[in-house]
Amino acid sequence: MKNNIILIGYMGAGKSTVGKALAKCLGYHFLDTDLWIEKKEGEKISLIFEKKGEEYFRNKETECLIDLLSEEKGKVISVGGGLPVREENRLLLKQLGEVVYLKATPKTIYERIKGDTTRPLLQTENPFQKIKDMLNDREEKYQAAAHHVLTVDKKSIAELVEE
Ligand code: S3P
Repeated sequence: MKNNIILIGYMGAGKSTVGKALAKCLGYHFLDTDLWIEKKEGEKISLIFEKKGEEYFRNKETECLIDLLSEEKGKVISVGGGLPVREENRLLLKQLGEVVYLKATPKTIYERIKGDTTRPLLQTENPFQKIKDMLNDREEKYQAAAHHVLTVDKKSIAELVEE
């Protein structure tokens, strides 16, 4: 029987890119929690943060996981970088499927997302420092949420799909 495969990790770790390629390879559906929320709210993430605040967005993430629990399995699910921070979400993730943490160094992340304006939490003076601080806080939570950990630095999409 098909299970879900869930990709977690920091922004820019490659969850969506690898997730789409993996879904194609397995013949699974692909779902991204950020896109699920944007569709439901009819608004981009940056505007949801701006108008309704981060807490509102975090509640939507939990809602999305609860909704997915009642859906058919056989999906590759890429989740927003901050979703596993909530303990409740970590429990939901484990019920939802096999959780894979795509682990990237702050340098890799910074190189990939510098200049990006779609991620509200990184619109700061010193994004590299912010990435290091946030990863420091989140690492333990990502590890606790995951069944498997894959390091992504210097690996191609095909290599990660294979792993
Ligand atoms: C966030 C990550 C983003 C998005 C939001 C908050 C975070 O998703 O959910 O901007 O807290 O790390 P990606 O990891 O898909 O960029």
